[in-house]
Amino acid sequence: MDWVSFWDGAHSIYVNDRHKQVHYARITADIAALVPAPDARVLDYGCGEALGAPGLARACGSLILADAAPTVRAKLKERLKGEPRITVLSPEETAALPDGSLDFVIANSLLQYLSKDVLKSLLGLWRRLLAPGGALVLADVIPPGVSAVQDAAALLSFAARDGFLPAAVIGLAKTAVSPYRKLRADLGLTMYEEAEMLALLKEAGYAPERLARNIGHNQRRMAFRAVPAG
Ligand SMILES: C[S@@+](CC[C@H](N)C(=O)[O-])C[C@H]1O[C@@H](n2cnc3c(N)ncnc32)[C@H](O)[C@@H]1O
Repeated sequence: MDWVSFWDGAHSIYVNDRHKQVHYARITADIAALVPAPDARVLDYGCGEALGAPGLARACGSLILADAAPTVRAKLKERLKGEPRITVLSPEETAALPDGSLDFVIANSLLQYLSKDVLKSLLGLWRRLLAPGGALVLADVIPPGVSAVQDAAALLSFAARDGFLPAAVIGLAKTAVSPYRKLRADLGLTMYEEAEMLALLKEAGYAPERLARNIGHNQRRMAFRAVPAG
């Protein structure tokens, strides 16, 4: 099994419905705050279930949701068919978009599931798709040394604040014996030092900066904003 098959199948990464709702509410608010203009053409790459997509679409001109998992895309298309400003695309369809057709690209909690070579080729794609003045945000990037235990602690404090602590404790126990845990052990998660990410972005033709805050609840992870340079 690889990571895309994991996300394509039934998984219990969200400990309950409340966890999923508050996760997407939080990341949607954080992403909407980074959208550069109310008419921006936005791409959410590796969007997952995108429960906040209608709200995010109201904060921009148009929203493309791209995900590699076919089942995820099929559900999004069904759920969002009444949303004229939202389009759901595969990675291949996204790669066929015209140059300069986007103003903002967000990839949240995606990079840990990609090899460094795949990330390099995506940085090239997003650079081509961004119009002058556009911006890319890479968020929830995991630095080396953040352990599964620290991720669990971040989830528990999020759960305590948002009222799903008992479910989070049970969910973590389930995750410990789940396919996620096995895949994390077998395939690993791709991690980046801050300096490595800044260098990769520069090499790919961006002027990057680390943002003061990550998107979502886990502030041990990092967010970067990068604008096409030159
Ligand atoms: C952890 S989920 C993140 C979902 C959402 N962005 C969030 O922050 O909650 C990762 C998503 O990335 C997708 N994904 C993994 N590899 C991908 C790739 N190479 N291209 C596009 N999407 C990918 C998975 O299918 C999954 O839906």
